[in-house]
Amino acid sequence: MENSKTKLPIGVFDSGIGGISVLAEIIKMLPSERFVYFADTIHSPYGTKSEDVVRTLSIKVAEFLALMGIKSLVIACNTATSAAIHEIRKICPFPVVGMEPALKPAVELGLNGKILVMATPLTLKSKKFNDLVLHYKHRAEIVPIPCVGLVEIIERDHSCRREIEEYLSHLFSSIHKGDISVIVLGCTHYVLIKREILHAAGGNIAIIDGNCGTARHLQAMLQNACLLNTDVAERSHIPIKSQITFYISGVEKEKRITQCRQLLQKEGIVCE
Ligand code: DGL
Repeated sequence: MENSKTKLPIGVFDSGIGGISVLAEIIKMLPSERFVYFADTIHSPYGTKSEDVVRTLSIKVAEFLALMGIKSLVIACNTATSAAIHEIRKICPFPVVGMEPALKPAVELGLNGKILVMATPLTLKSKKFNDLVLHYKHRAEIVPIPCVGLVEIIERDHSCRREIEEYLSHLFSSIHKGDISVIVLGCTHYVLIKREILHAAGGNIAIIDGNCGTARHLQAMLQNACLLNTDVAERSHIPIKSQITFYISGVEKEKRITQCRQLLQKEGIVCE
């Protein structure tokens, strides 16, 4: 018998537009699903706030989305996940998927050289991340790189190449590029500027993010809970048409929504 909740939307949230990079991968994997996307732009960035503040903000967003009647929640933000996933799971009566810097796949590449983890200061300070480092540090040299201020630049204008290039060139000027084997993008915002990061790092380096892994994890969780929408969507149809309701907590809501739509469009997804 079909679960009556299968047609409910999936909630996805981030402090801003970074989570759109995750949402795009989820839509490609689960094109029949509907979504509610929440960007907490009024409180962005999360990564330079205290853990307590980010926990409180994230719980509020989760409660808001739960009231919208969602069947599952994706915390499309490494920072919010590290601060609040345990508490959010306690209050949500549906599957909750979070994100963490994709260290495991980076280590498993087995390459010689340092693994750089670019993330927000709060993610890198968190117990969750430091436990992960402890687990893998005997297999690779892991170098955390806190990127203070990068989220703000991306939020202002992710296509403002000059500002992004200047930031990255300054960041990489103190790092010996020849020693790097892999860069882990431990913040969903950075995935939006993956090309620029690769360029600044000098090219021939593996670059990994957790977006596909998160989409696969969500799919498995929905399947186990019999919550997958079984309606058939035209997977091969490009652009993929997706039903998304956007909520923006800050100012310039229309501009932000347009920005989200444009980012999705670049990935071959059109919002209905
Ligand atoms: N996109 C969020 C993440 O993955 C961080 C953004 C922020 O600092 O607000 O960590």
